[in-house]
Amino acid sequence: MRVGIIGTGWIAEKAAITLQGMEKCEAYAVGSRTSEKAESFAEKWGIPKSYGSYGELIRDPEVDLVYVATPHSHHYDVTREALLSGKPCLVEKAFMANYRQAKEIVDLARERGVFLAEAIWTRYQPVVGMVRNLIAEGRIGKPQMITATLGYSMGEKPRIMRADLCGGALLDLGVYALNFVRMFTTGDVSMIDGHCVKSYTGMDLTNAITIITADGVLSNVQSSARCVGDNIGVIAGTEGNLIVDNINNPQKITVNTRDRVHVEDIQVPRQITGYEYQFYACREAIAEGLTEPREMPLDETLYIMRLMDGLRKKWGVRYPMDD
Ligand SMILES: NC(=O)c1ccc[n+]([C@@H]2O[C@H](COP(=O)([O-])OP(=O)(O)OC[C@H]3O[C@@H](n4cnc5c(N)ncnc54)[C@H](OP(=O)(O)O)[C@@H]3O)[C@@H](O)[C@H]2O)c1
Repeated sequence: MRVGIIGTGWIAEKAAITLQGMEKCEAYAVGSRTSEKAESFAEKWGIPKSYGSYGELIRDPEVDLVYVATPHSHHYDVTREALLSGKPCLVEKAFMANYRQAKEIVDLARERGVFLAEAIWTRYQPVVGMVRNLIAEGRIGKPQMITATLGYSMGEKPRIMRADLCGGALLDLGVYALNFVRMFTTGDVSMIDGHCVKSYTGMDLTNAITIITADGVLSNVQSSARCVGDNIGVIAGTEGNLIVDNINNPQKITVNTRDRVHVEDIQVPRQITGYEYQFYACREAIAEGLTEPREMPLDETLYIMRLMDGLRKKWGVRYPMDD
């Protein structure tokens, strides 16, 4: 699978490093707003093709998958252009600015029968199946409560601070916490509420969210772009608990009994960076003729976008695309 990377920022580099270590997937092209950046990125990572515009990369017939690695605010235009050209797309989280944009893009992909996926890497990692199996085996009894935190001290990064770049902790970090809850609960969200502390630019910098799901699990999750979180996720059941060491790239699951006695630590399989699973999932799904990945169905992407819209509305965190 020849991947065309759109954007030359932080995550684009991580993708290039990851693809270098993968089999049957390669970083084939990079597209940037300037040819200088595209050329230097391509040279640095040994990528055969570089383009000084996103459109040129999209139109390259050799590109099998367009990987959209621009800020959330710029996912919509580039993904739309790629889908209209019939190109399969893997789009970084947060998928779009809001539910309206996400629905339009999902509808377009479905109308055209073109593959589309959200690059929420944690959904594709083997740890998801490992945790689900531990729960299904009854290792912690019946889950009752989930807690999870994700916090990075990110300073005043423009894409966190600015409304036109869809700033705030929720779309950047909280999305992982919401996915953590959705991955390990069943049924609809029956209640969701939250609070946030905002930046002087009106973006949520630190937030806390409470969710009750149809299975009776209560989840409390926090995310912050202002402080160093423990980044731990805990699934607490009637007979014990599971502790996931890092909800943003889990390496270890700890199993404890009813009396909080340590039972075992389970390591995840050795990984390149952890991003490889989302690329392999796309490759396999496309090879099977699917138009979305099994690991992260588009309806689930839409569901989470809608939850985030609701929270932002309550908090008064608005983007220009909301109008
Ligand atoms: N999955 C993960 O673990 C993870 C981690 C970090 C970020 N992300 C996601 O990846 C996306 C990009 O994040 P990042 O940290 O890589 O951002 P970044 O370092 O700021 O890079 C974004 C790239 O997008 C392009 N771009 C296009 N329009 C832009 C604009 N108006 N302002 C700034 N850049 C623009 C730029 O590339 P050119 O100038 O070359 O066109 C830039 O290098 C976000 O959606 C973010 O949530 C995911």
